Amino acid sequence: MTLWSGRFSESMDSTLWELSESYSFDHVLYHHDIMGSKAHVKGIRAAGLLSEADMDVLLSTLDQIEEEFDRGTFVRAGSDEDIHMAIERRATELAGDIGARIHTSRSRNDQVATTLRLFTRDALDRLARSVLDLVAALREVGAKTPDAFLPGYTHLQRAQPVLLTHHLNAHAWSLLRDVDRILDTRERVDVSPLGAGAIAGTSLAIDPELSARELGFHETFANSMDAVSDRDFVVETLFDLALLGVHLSRMGEELVLWTSAEFNFAQLGDAFTTGSSMLPQKKNSDVAELARGKSGRLVGNLTGLLVTLKGLPLSYNRDLQEDKEPLFDSLRTAHLVLASLAGAYRSLSFNTEVAGDAARDSTLVAIDIAEQLVGENVPFRQAHESVGRLVAEAIARGVSLREVVEATEEFARFSDLFDEGAALKRRSSPGGAGPIPAKVQEERLEARVSLLTSRLEG
Ligand code: ARG
Repeated sequence: MTLWSGRFSESMDSTLWELSESYSFDHVLYHHDIMGSKAHVKGIRAAGLLSEADMDVLLSTLDQIEEEFDRGTFVRAGSDEDIHMAIERRATELAGDIGARIHTSRSRNDQVATTLRLFTRDALDRLARSVLDLVAALREVGAKTPDAFLPGYTHLQRAQPVLLTHHLNAHAWSLLRDVDRILDTRERVDVSPLGAGAIAGTSLAIDPELSARELGFHETFANSMDAVSDRDFVVETLFDLALLGVHLSRMGEELVLWTSAEFNFAQLGDAFTTGSSMLPQKKNSDVAELARGKSGRLVGNLTGLLVTLKGLPLSYNRDLQEDKEPLFDSLRTAHLVLASLAGAYRSLSFNTEVAGDAARDSTLVAIDIAEQLVGENVPFRQAHESVGRLVAEAIARGVSLREVVEATEEFARFSDLFDEGAALKRRSSPGGAGPIPAKVQEERLEARVSLLTSRLEG
């Protein structure tokens, strides 16, 4: 028997039951649902709708139910459609008529919104922590070989030498923006919908501010219809996860390239690679490929929910139940990728020599010759043109740019630009890839990490 059986003369068809039940996936919300219910119970007590003694019974009953879930002994009844009804059913079983008072002035519509916001708020905190840990892993890799450098690429063609720390920090900065975004989203999640009822509030004297405070929400809904029908907060969370996933996929792609024999810039530890069922020599960077591949479902979960929400009339519609699986899936996926990528980076050994040799490619000094000419008051476009001709000559003769420069009287004075480390050192402008601005960047990065950490913990 369902909790609404009063109005019905036939029981629900089994196909509808299978379509509509959500317990199979929303039972993971039990902790936050019970948290919301306890605040609600205190709210109906404060409204004079429950005796002190009955409140105590309900609160300890809810604690007992939570313990059953924690221990894995909670038994779902055949009629438990979702986590909310399962908990109410069990409360009534345990506390009889007192349990039957728990849903006073509440609807599953404000209940589920409350539960999901509480859940998402915690999930975002955990997510931000995992992203910060990946940032820490990137910085650890850089700190192992602070002087290592590699070619920086544009169009995947060698462009200019860059410090490894600079390259890794580029990823760190995008991840820190992800953390910032996650914490922004958290602020909008942190609004209590409890007390909105089914759609329009209630005639009973409950005070939504009270339960909001009890649950540590920093704000209370202003419009009951918005409170029960808004799922922006889930969409926003899914967006944060999708964009994070896109960032992780770019890092994954880079690790795939770096660990290929063609690049050979780095190796992953054995614990973060897989073998081949057929080819004995293979060591595959599946971790990086999955980081790249999982971004597809993160983007898919976002677009899926957006489409679900599009065109929904106010206020609650059952379509909204479709918010949960994408949310749970994206959170789980992101956590798996974040944790394994952090481990993979920590296991990484960077081939300083190979990457350094690639960055010693003398054509990467071309821009420095042009910039020297600019320093001598040659218009940049002319400088670019003459150095371009030197590069073309080197390619045509199959020799290094350095050789051509040294053999050309007009340019021979620039030969020390080719000295070891000179090109890297000349990347000296603020935010640039060389060792001179590196310290300032490191300080800024450190400051951003502590700012975000205190925002997260504060
Ligand atoms: N399981 C439902 C959900 O996730 C709970 C709300 C159901 N409300 C209703 N009026 N049928 O949205």
